[in-house]
Amino acid sequence: MADPVLDVRDLHVALHTRRGVIHAVDHVSLHIDPGETLALVGESGCGKTMTALSVIGLVPKPPGVIEGGQVLLGGDDLVPKSDEEMRRLRGDRMAMVFQEPMTSLDPVFTIGAQLMETLLAHRAISRADAHAQSVAMLKRVQIPEAERRMDNYPHELSGGMRQRVMIAIALLCRPDLLIADEPTTALDVTTQAQILELLRELRGEFGMALLLITHALGVVAEMADRVAVMYAGRVVETAGVEEIFANPRHPYTKGLLASIPDLADGQERLATIPGTVPNLLHKPPGCCFWPRCPIAEARCRAQEPALAELAPGHQAACWKASA
Ligand SMILES: Nc1ncnc2c1ncn2[C@@H]1O[C@H](COP(=O)(O)OP(=O)(O)OP(=O)(O)O)[C@@H](O)[C@H]1O
Ligand SMILES: [Mg+2]
Repeated sequence: MADPVLDVRDLHVALHTRRGVIHAVDHVSLHIDPGETLALVGESGCGKTMTALSVIGLVPKPPGVIEGGQVLLGGDDLVPKSDEEMRRLRGDRMAMVFQEPMTSLDPVFTIGAQLMETLLAHRAISRADAHAQSVAMLKRVQIPEAERRMDNYPHELSGGMRQRVMIAIALLCRPDLLIADEPTTALDVTTQAQILELLRELRGEFGMALLLITHALGVVAEMADRVAVMYAGRVVETAGVEEIFANPRHPYTKGLLASIPDLADGQERLATIPGTVPNLLHKPPGCCFWPRCPIAEARCRAQEPALAELAPGHQAACWKASA
């Protein structure tokens, strides 16, 4: 088996806010093999985006502090790297697509300038070549009249087109790892389906590993090879996609999977589990999930369960699952 593209080991990221310390990424370990897609799922505020930002080196500092752990990209630990070193890696060996492309596209530059800038920052090529490769990539993400679109500003494009441009920028340097954080949540349903289809095609064509953060279980089922479920800053279960749908072991995962189609937006959304995600400022002792857990017992309130291997490739952090 090839070494993983990404190997996150015991990563701990704390946010030092005025109200106290939030352990947003609480000793998280996960890995993604070459060409593999890992879906990261969990309710709002459980630390998915912060995990992604830690990998790509964009944790806001302050308040963020990487307290410990490793982020190995191709075996190389990114945690000790300088901002300058991370800038060189971003857009080159790894790239990220965000939920709202307007936050990552610069409104004052044409999309052509932004595409070319990415190439020129990472590759020793001429402006003419950068232009040609940018147009080719816009065509590849199915932007009509790509040549002419190079001169457009981001606000002149629709949301779906902007997301295609973001994907084009992300893939220009053929990264080993693409992180997509809710890449379709801000789009209408038809456009969502098109963007996902595009990502699926490009993933096969470019052979990149994909860390896909999503709320939509339909997307998980269609896109992911493996799934990591986060709760209150921790990974509480991880398994292959078929295994996790067929045989979820953590009560939190079971709750998530008991989802009902939401007819209002035509999409399956995560079910609501009674109670709310704990305030990460005041995590309960023991298992974070016990206040909402239907099967919690005394031990769950006192002692935190570690991720335990229940079957090959299937781990869960639950006293009752490993019993
Ligand atoms: N800049 C910040 N300052 C303080 N706290 C923050 C900041 N950004 C995030 N947090 C907190 O860190 C925790 C993890 O947030 P994160 O954005 O990673 O969650 P998420 O799983 O991506 O949620 P969502 O599904 O809503 O995107 C939350 O408790 C959030 O309130
Ligand atoms: Mg998020």
